[in-house]
Amino acid sequence: MDIHIEFAPGRGRRDEIYRQLRAAILDGRLRAGDPLPPTRELARRVEVSRNTVSAAYDRLTAEGFLDAHVGSGTFVRDGAGRADRPAPGLPSPLRPVEIWDAMPNAPRSFVTTAEFDFRAGVPDLRRFPFDTWRRLVANQLRESAADVLTYGDPQGHPGLRAAIARQIGLSRGVRAEPDDVLVTGGAQQAIDLVARVLLRPGEHAAVEDPGYPPPRLLFQTLGARVHGVPVDDEGLVVDAIPPGCRLVYVTPSHQYPIGTAMSLRRRLALLDWGGRNDAAIIEDDYDTEFRYAGRPLEPLHSLDSANRVLYVGSFSKVLAPGLRLGFLVAPPSLRVALTKAKSLADWQTANPIQAALAQFMDEGGFARHVRASRREYEARHDLVRRVLERDFAGLLTPIPSSAGLHVSAFASADMRPVVKAARKAGIRLYSLEDFTARKAEVRGLVFGYGAIPLDRIEPGLRLLRRVL
Ligand SMILES: Cc1ncc(COP(=O)(O)O)c(C=O)c1O
Repeated sequence: MDIHIEFAPGRGRRDEIYRQLRAAILDGRLRAGDPLPPTRELARRVEVSRNTVSAAYDRLTAEGFLDAHVGSGTFVRDGAGRADRPAPGLPSPLRPVEIWDAMPNAPRSFVTTAEFDFRAGVPDLRRFPFDTWRRLVANQLRESAADVLTYGDPQGHPGLRAAIARQIGLSRGVRAEPDDVLVTGGAQQAIDLVARVLLRPGEHAAVEDPGYPPPRLLFQTLGARVHGVPVDDEGLVVDAIPPGCRLVYVTPSHQYPIGTAMSLRRRLALLDWGGRNDAAIIEDDYDTEFRYAGRPLEPLHSLDSANRVLYVGSFSKVLAPGLRLGFLVAPPSLRVALTKAKSLADWQTANPIQAALAQFMDEGGFARHVRASRREYEARHDLVRRVLERDFAGLLTPIPSSAGLHVSAFASADMRPVVKAARKAGIRLYSLEDFTARKAEVRGLVFGYGAIPLDRIEPGLRLLRRVL
């Protein structure tokens, strides 16, 4: 480990080495078990005699900060430091721009800790194709393929763009050439890039209410004025979009969190609205690889003859959110600007991971994985619905939905206290109130079944029934 020692004029070098190492141990920068550099090496690096370093080490050892093991080196002694306490931060005059104070804290972890995890939007990581993925990534990390480790095309790995274009063409009827696709760090980055490229500070944008919170918050941080537009059983109420909106974000295939699909009538009305208002439409198709009944309605992107729709997809539900893989299909008029925005944001999405996914898709493993996951999630979807209808009649009204990783249900009372009480009982789930500004009108619960195994669903819902 490189340890930085600074000598101030007028201070003894041995004392400075002693003092600075001691401070590093006390504030946790050096932790129990960390090795110190050999005396000869540190002496050479900081340009003092070896005796000076040895004398500092001897004093720290005598005071119980270090353990010297003949032959293997000098280490920070157990219990000597304060690894349990973060290093105290020095006060700084720097403050974030005001908007960041208004943002909710970022969730730090989605690791399941509850006995029954009904959180929406979390896929089953036990289903992740670990062995195949290890092989695919290992295949990228060969000396003979080292190019994958250099900077690549910000628009995305060409093979992956081609595989995505094929995949969405087949499964969703989205017509796209590889050049229309931009690979992103999840759907979230796709939405961010679109907003950066299309919205000026002070302009108006619309999102669904209830709706997925991150796009609304993101647009706000970019200085946009964001309006929540009500959703009914046909989807976004297009007539309620305030005048002057330049951008609207929707989840037409599987409204988040209500779960319904936007009707064809509304889809056409939204496209028509886009034309009349010279606006762009973000279509977030985040989980419709999992469709259990009926024919999916045509994506807005396919119905759009005016090239106003930006189609966003994610690999977070079909593979794993931690991979941070998503994509955007954008009209050619925006491609150059979007690629510039992507390269300025993070240059590119991790190349070896993109290449691994391209191979997974080309080999057919991805399609098989989606099919097997769909069967599993369909069984969970059906079970949640059956139990809600059977055991929660009069309390909850399940909302028809036939896709994705969650089912929602309306309630007549405020569900936030129920969510709190459920949490105490070992159940994690969200309320519809978590996703709306209209908390007195939109009440209910959201049942995610991505994270909870089939055989835990009934016991979990039985317990919830007692909490309700
Ligand atoms: C509506 C919606 N869009 C997108 C995503 C996925 O986002 P990302 O690809 O950034 O992980 C989620 C995940 O919960 C979601 O609920």
